[in-house]
Amino acid sequence: MSKLIIRGGNDLTGSVKINGAKNSAVAVIAAAILCRGTTILENVPQISDVKILLNIMKKLGIAIEWVEKDAVSITADDDIDSSAIYQEVSSLRASNLLLGSLLGRTGKAAVALPGGCDLGERPMDLHIKGFTQLGAVCGTVESRYIQAEAQNGLKGAVIYLDFPSVGATENIMMAAAVAEGQTVIENVAKEPEIVDLANFLNGAGAKVRGAGTDIIRVEGVKELKGRRHSIIPDRIEAGTFMSVAAVTGSRLRLENVISAHLKPVIAKMRETGTEIRCAGSNMYVTGPKRLKAVSIQTLAHPGFPTDMQPQMMAMATLAKGTSVIVENIFEKRMKAAAELTKMGADIAIDGKTAIVKGVERLHGATVRAHDLRAGAALVAAALAAEGETVIENLNIIDRGYWQIAEKLTDIGGDVRRIDE
Ligand code: EPZ
Repeated sequence: MSKLIIRGGNDLTGSVKINGAKNSAVAVIAAAILCRGTTILENVPQISDVKILLNIMKKLGIAIEWVEKDAVSITADDDIDSSAIYQEVSSLRASNLLLGSLLGRTGKAAVALPGGCDLGERPMDLHIKGFTQLGAVCGTVESRYIQAEAQNGLKGAVIYLDFPSVGATENIMMAAAVAEGQTVIENVAKEPEIVDLANFLNGAGAKVRGAGTDIIRVEGVKELKGRRHSIIPDRIEAGTFMSVAAVTGSRLRLENVISAHLKPVIAKMRETGTEIRCAGSNMYVTGPKRLKAVSIQTLAHPGFPTDMQPQMMAMATLAKGTSVIVENIFEKRMKAAAELTKMGADIAIDGKTAIVKGVERLHGATVRAHDLRAGAALVAAALAAEGETVIENLNIIDRGYWQIAEKLTDIGGDVRRIDE
């Protein structure tokens, strides 16, 4: 099992180039299935979630080729096998995004019930509701995979999402892009990754309006054509390195950042006493000698992102005062707490609320990454802790962070990667 060995206490300094966004890349890669001809995607991070998704698509008969270090060519012209029931699918939540594009392109799709991080129940009811309203017949088979089929093609509908689900918004938008007539999707997710997907689809010939607002309107078109598209920067990777600067009292420059995507994170970080200055696509982050305690509620965008909650928890463990963190999106996303406690943190969990009493220092320990962002939180804490921390289950962190050991070493972190 791979692990990171981090010796804390180093002053960190220098620049970090932020990669393309994982949660945009996986959606846009899936959407390329809708397009005839070749799609070239730039600024694609070589993270394992992306590699696994591309491997599944290869097994569907789609031509995939990395044309540069962070650019991939996708050609979905030949016969596509619409059933992605593969081993890899069960380890990747984002594979559920293949449903919308396969359904739109081939009229049917079967994808293993998604796996990914264990953040609790990851239902697909809103995805199925949308596909059904577009005219597909859906079902789950042997509770192992989801099937959807639209023998008479997809027809536009008015769809209301009970919760602004990111994945459901993306899946329904992809299917609606090539449905007959108009689709209106209400109470949609407004994350920047939704806007990036809509921009990709429109560049390929789709007619998607309103992405980033509460209502998305789609005028279905017959065909989409492959095109070149650059993935937006990863706001959560940027936020993670912001938390690294904050918790270690360091000054870092982050390059390739869209600060408008990070408004809630910037606001809450400033409340901790962290200095943040944005200049074009650069962000300068300076952590204070000691952080102030803050209270956080995770909400759908533009609320505070759940994907930054564990990293804020890591910061709170060393802050002056007591922080209250409420996780409203996922029912099992407090896994970082037990591991941070092994490092000397004082955290009490009550349902979806974490009460974090700041301590003067953390000490190194052997800890485990239970999910992607909890793993990122442990990396930040380890860089600020006294002594050596071993973070096990590094493959979980590799799902969403490309070259994290190299990036931390480049800014002065004492970080070693052990691949076993
Ligand atoms: C996306 O997951 C992201 N993943 C997650 O990032 C992110 O945390 C999440 O959106 C929320 O922002 C990708 O984009 C690949 P949801 P997704 O559907 O689409 C409920 C990371 O660390 N729900 O918005 O799976 C669900 O139970 C990952 O990068 C339903 O009830 O999230 C959850 O409570 C983790 N029914 C809430 O919505 C449904 O049909 C949010 O889920 C679908 C979702």
